[in-house]
Amino acid sequence: MTSKLYMVSLGPGDVELLTLKALNAFKDCDAICVPTKSEDNSFTKSISFKIVSQALELLEVEKKIIPVYSPMHFLEEDWDNEAKVILDTLKENNKVCFVTLGDAGVYSSIYYLLDRIKESDEQLYKNSEVIAGVTSFSAGSAQAKKALCLGDEQLIIKPINPRKDIRTTEILMRPKIGMDTTELGEGDFYTFENMYLKDEKITPSKISKVRKYMTLFINFAKRD
Ligand SMILES: C[S@@+](CC[C@H](N)C(=O)[O-])C[C@H]1O[C@@H](n2cnc3c(N)ncnc32)[C@H](O)[C@@H]1O
Repeated sequence: MTSKLYMVSLGPGDVELLTLKALNAFKDCDAICVPTKSEDNSFTKSISFKIVSQALELLEVEKKIIPVYSPMHFLEEDWDNEAKVILDTLKENNKVCFVTLGDAGVYSSIYYLLDRIKESDEQLYKNSEVIAGVTSFSAGSAQAKKALCLGDEQLIIKPINPRKDIRTTEILMRPKIGMDTTELGEGDFYTFENMYLKDEKITPSKISKVRKYMTLFINFAKRD
């Protein structure tokens, strides 16, 4: 049987901010890999473990929990070890979740891990799924009852302590139907039209003319 890996976003800390997709992945899987900063693999300080435990309680299911030592030192060897734990877990379990706080697309280690998983098992990579979640800043905006962007404002997310030169991912929203996209510039573009809706189309480039209002462009940061 083909193995399945779910990369599950947990949201910012409240179990009620988990998505139904995340809960369904927990129901579907055989084991959940949970990062911990504790060298002894305990979960005493793990927020992720707290959320996963609460979710399993809500679902009234029990799953194997596999600790993944994640010291967050930003070292290649740590990501190698973390990816190995996931791959080893997949040898004994057909469907496995790995969890990450907030949303997986924002400063999460999951893409370092997915790169390694792709290298070691292309089919497993193709069969993996990333489940989106609530970011810490969406939650902060809601808690403060203050919009992140209104009207013609833009939103900037910055690393406070960058390790090297800062590269930028640009998210472009609210286009006009019929607009020519030349003015959006060049780069590693994706176009998302009617996502999760009827006629969903995800194009791994910039479409030349906007067809629908529900169109979003992401110009991803240039990465090595
Ligand atoms: C490694 S980043 C992960 C970001 C996460 N993936 C997201 O979508 O928000 C960790 C940083 O996110 C922010 N963060 C995450 N959860 C938070 C929370 N519950 N409260 C405040 N800040 C939080 C803090 O700035 C923290 O240093």
